Amino acid sequence: MDVLVVGSGGREDALVQKLAESDKVETIHALPGNDGMAGQAHLIEGNAEDVEAVARAAREADIDLAVIGPEKPLALGVVDALQEVGVAAFGPSREAARIESSKVFAKQLMEKYDIPTADFRVFSSHSEAVAHLNDRSFPAVIKADGLAAGKGVVVARDRAEGLRALTQIMVDRRFGDAGERVIIEDCLVGEELSVMAITDGETVVPLDAAQDHKAIYDGDRGPNTGGMGAFCPVQFYDEELAETVCRDILRPTVRAMAEEGVPFQGVLYAGLMVTEDGPEVLEFNCRFGDPEAQVVLPRLDSDLAPVLAAAAAADGSLASEAELVHWREQSAVCVVLASEGYPLDYEKGYSIEGLDEVAENVRLYHAGTVRTDAGWRTVGGRVLGVTGLGRDLEQARRRAYRQIESIRFSGMHYRTDIGR
Ligand SMILES: Nc1ncnc2c1ncn2[C@@H]1O[C@H](COP(=O)(O)OP(=O)(O)O)[C@@H](O)[C@H]1O
Ligand SMILES: [Mg+2]
Repeated sequence: MDVLVVGSGGREDALVQKLAESDKVETIHALPGNDGMAGQAHLIEGNAEDVEAVARAAREADIDLAVIGPEKPLALGVVDALQEVGVAAFGPSREAARIESSKVFAKQLMEKYDIPTADFRVFSSHSEAVAHLNDRSFPAVIKADGLAAGKGVVVARDRAEGLRALTQIMVDRRFGDAGERVIIEDCLVGEELSVMAITDGETVVPLDAAQDHKAIYDGDRGPNTGGMGAFCPVQFYDEELAETVCRDILRPTVRAMAEEGVPFQGVLYAGLMVTEDGPEVLEFNCRFGDPEAQVVLPRLDSDLAPVLAAAAAADGSLASEAELVHWREQSAVCVVLASEGYPLDYEKGYSIEGLDEVAENVRLYHAGTVRTDAGWRTVGGRVLGVTGLGRDLEQARRRAYRQIESIRFSGMHYRTDIGR
């Protein structure tokens, strides 16, 4: 089959590299992709968020399966647009993507179907939200309803901090319409964990759990980013916890979406807090995590293409494909190399050295790179992801960091404690 990967970051490079291993995949296209993928994928120029143009390009290239990386095109209806022109697409419809693009939708779904999550209230009036803060306990968590690039959540230690968050979200509209409504919810205590599952709307194929590091500096200090690293597997995620997550969260959520008339097909990503009372949902995402994909996909021993195709077809064939899914007994640690200044403003165009030789148990994922006549240059905040694979986390870590020693660009910043 001919496959199109939509998106341009490290997650999409991980998808391209995994799909390139498949005997069933003839050609891979990426829109817009990045130059790091060019050895394995044919790059199609364009904007992933212009969903009609993506659909036209897929039609023209006679694509058999489109795989969507980022949440934005999904929330804008890229899967609906692709299906309209007869191209099968892996990822939820615009309506189903609301499980990520509207936190209110997700919370109300969980409430209705008894899926464990923090107690919450929804407000569309600033004054009512303020009144609620006046007679509740702290810490409390304040969340903008819509997509806010990972910046719309504040864990408020006290009333003053809560009021500030409400002003920014609801009055200043820092995140635009995403702040039309807010959720105020109880603060959960425990260990965070991400579990992704591939689903056709009925069968649920859980992937191994991962943990990511959002903060820019070591020790989880500093502002949040899109993700500075991830590792997999997670020690405390044993078989019992995996079964609980599947039974109490993943399967009921997929069933709930079907019952609501918005069947969910694609990756259901559950951001969880494992509390004393068991796992509770912090949020759902509707696609692979970035950089979680960069640690989960390289450990997949089986062919990814037929699994994604079966999920996209939603014809019941995922159930038999699921039996063929196997994982390598391996650990993976991904370290993100970022531009100086990221997640705020940063300079672009620095020359990158050391990308030619990659050790056997290392995968190099391009995110913000461009190839010029004079060599590789930086062009994004997150520039590269370096994934080390090994028999345990320690070996995987060592391999990732050893590879990084040979990579250089001006202002290169990375965390030294990923997977520790
Ligand atoms: N109810 C909660 N209790 C404690 N921490 C929370 C809660 N909800 C969110 N958080 C923290 O805030 C982070 C971001 O929240 P999340 O719901 O995942 O939104 P997003 O990823 O869209 O920013 C979480 O990873 C978690 O650390
Ligand atoms: Mg999150």
